[in-house]
Amino acid sequence: MSATASKPEIRQWGSHATPVFSTRYPSEGVLNRELRKFILDQESQGERYRNPDYIPSNQVGIFESSFDLFKDLNRAIQELKGFFLHGILHAVMETNGYSADEAGRLRVMTDAWYHVTRFGGYISSHIHSNATWSAVYMVDPGVHPDDRPAGGVLNFKDPRVTANMYLDPGNQQWRPPYHLGSVNYEMKPGDLLVFPSFIQHEVTPYFGEAPRITVAANCSFRWQDS
Ligand SMILES: [Fe+2]
Repeated sequence: MSATASKPEIRQWGSHATPVFSTRYPSEGVLNRELRKFILDQESQGERYRNPDYIPSNQVGIFESSFDLFKDLNRAIQELKGFFLHGILHAVMETNGYSADEAGRLRVMTDAWYHVTRFGGYISSHIHSNATWSAVYMVDPGVHPDDRPAGGVLNFKDPRVTANMYLDPGNQQWRPPYHLGSVNYEMKPGDLLVFPSFIQHEVTPYFGEAPRITVAANCSFRWQDS
């Protein structure tokens, strides 16, 4: 092309981008105090509320509840369930282009549970199988010692497994949303993160003395009339 020829327009578009949504429960203090009390009370009862199928090699130093948390009629749990569904349905409508009427025809199957992470606890890399959307809510991030700033952090792996096979100045400073490699989310109390269930993620080892408390959910969907 000669230097004097007009240059054709170049369009940027995202191929295989990964949608992640975040929101925050407004004035989360009262809700989180109720959730914290409810969860720690159950944890104190030992095996009664623990998920009997948890994988010890996958989780260390974590109390994982059974997956029927949202069936409990506790006020705070039901309030939180509504907040989860609000965030997850937004993600579904936004990414699929569904109208409110279409979204209203969806039947949503939800598993929900909580984690209480104690000193030294972590979850190694995993996905949430048999679901399309997952979400995690931060009840209490615990305490983060100054010498362990990256502890207890939710870390998402790059789902494009070969994306960082070769790094040089041509790609090593990709700006958001085109990250390469893993991404840390430092969640604050009241934060809800909604993400596709296929994203591999982990929680890095937590070294606070106070418990770190999160609630998580998996959702799958059917049309009500199918
Ligand atoms: Fe997870």
